[in-house]
Amino acid sequence: MSENQASLTAGGNSVDMPIKSGTIGPDVIDIRKLYGQTGMFTYDPGFTSTASCDSAITYIDGDEGVLLHRGYPIGQLAEHSSFMEVSYLLLNGELPSSQELADFSRTITRHTMLHEQLATFYRGFRRDAHPMAIMCGVVGALSAFYHDSTDIADPTHRKISSHRLIAKMPTIAAMAYKYSVGQPFVYPDNKLSYTGNFLKMTFGVPAEEYEVIPAVEKAMDRIFILHADHEQNASTSTVRLAGSSGANPFACIAAGIACLWGPAHGGANEAALNMLKEIGTPDRIQHYIDRAKDKNDPFRLMGFGHRVYKNYDPRATVMQSTVREVFAALNVQDPLFETALRLEEIALSDPYFAEKKLFPNVDFYSGIILSAIGFPTTMFTVLFALARTVGWVAQWNEMISDPGQKIGRPRQLYTGPTARDYVPLSDR
Ligand code: CMC
Repeated sequence: MSENQASLTAGGNSVDMPIKSGTIGPDVIDIRKLYGQTGMFTYDPGFTSTASCDSAITYIDGDEGVLLHRGYPIGQLAEHSSFMEVSYLLLNGELPSSQELADFSRTITRHTMLHEQLATFYRGFRRDAHPMAIMCGVVGALSAFYHDSTDIADPTHRKISSHRLIAKMPTIAAMAYKYSVGQPFVYPDNKLSYTGNFLKMTFGVPAEEYEVIPAVEKAMDRIFILHADHEQNASTSTVRLAGSSGANPFACIAAGIACLWGPAHGGANEAALNMLKEIGTPDRIQHYIDRAKDKNDPFRLMGFGHRVYKNYDPRATVMQSTVREVFAALNVQDPLFETALRLEEIALSDPYFAEKKLFPNVDFYSGIILSAIGFPTTMFTVLFALARTVGWVAQWNEMISDPGQKIGRPRQLYTGPTARDYVPLSDR
């Protein structure tokens, strides 16, 4: 066996399989010939040891708590960059020049309006619909309105639909909010930044001039950066799998939104704040820690733990400092922040969480900031979806651009009945 080969003996056959190396991170064993040579599949429910694709976009070292986008550390991007710049970076692979950034921002700005007929579409929803339900429906419906950019084999179509998705997501999200509170939709304002525009469409009303508060705009932009992409997580893998069949990008992103909604994934930000509200005061924390440790209780600490991070989630570090900035800018306090800090402290000093390497993740502190800005909890996952759209689009584009791309088609370990004869109804 040479150094870059792995060897496996199975079913009486010995198979050599190539080992492939990336630029950083674990090597992978290329098992694609395994079935042909042994008649066996690999078995990895939950994909705990499976690399599903090659990707040059995002890198995570979960043991060290490292997150890089195109090589740049998330902490540096959150401190020095903007969401538009990070979006350009994710899509194109390099940081833009001033001219490239200006051109990209202008292109995105000019795609922010929605087809007017879509307003009618919103009115079909109940007013008390969860905004994520509205997001799934409206984003899926975009392919019915923008079918002039759905030829996925055409790079120009892919580019236009990518820009449309990134640009229209804030408008769609703000409209979902406006609809739920019974206020009129606010049209995009091209004088504002991507994030300022979103804040105005969400919190502005036609009767009054809306002033974007710079510190809130900056904090919101940073929250978008922190959520922009995260390697092959559940929703991104959903987008890739949906896209692998040749489905149009709007349908693929709608699939990603549906997956993100679950409380184990993007829905955790809503669940984390609801949990903090339920806990209420620090004196009640121990009871919830005990519940989280009890195997007979389904309760988990929401905003804690991660499949990949076995160390502090670097996004949670930035999120925690942003809480303080937003409180200072808005001159507010929230006793739930004290509860969250104390909860983190108690959990991290508890052997259960230490042994299982459970740390706060991106969703633990984000709800406190979003709540201070004025968002209801039901909007939290919508904001995650808005920001993650650029990551989904970048990953989808990377996949479709690969000439060797094949439809995603996992296999299974079948545990059902073996072949048997049909029994007529009268004999059952
Ligand atoms: N509270 C209590 N125990 C936990 C928690 C938690 N939040 N997370 C994991 N554990 C325990 C779990 O019970 C298991 O124990 P044991 O080995 O004794 O059975 C062990 O830790 C490993 O957990 P797992 O569920 O096998 O790990 P996973 O990688 O499949 O799940 C996770 C990762 C994020 C779904 C899980 O940690 C979780 O449910 N966390 C709460 C939800 C959450 O905050 N999700 C947001 C993730 S970050 C943002 C995003 O991806 O959208």
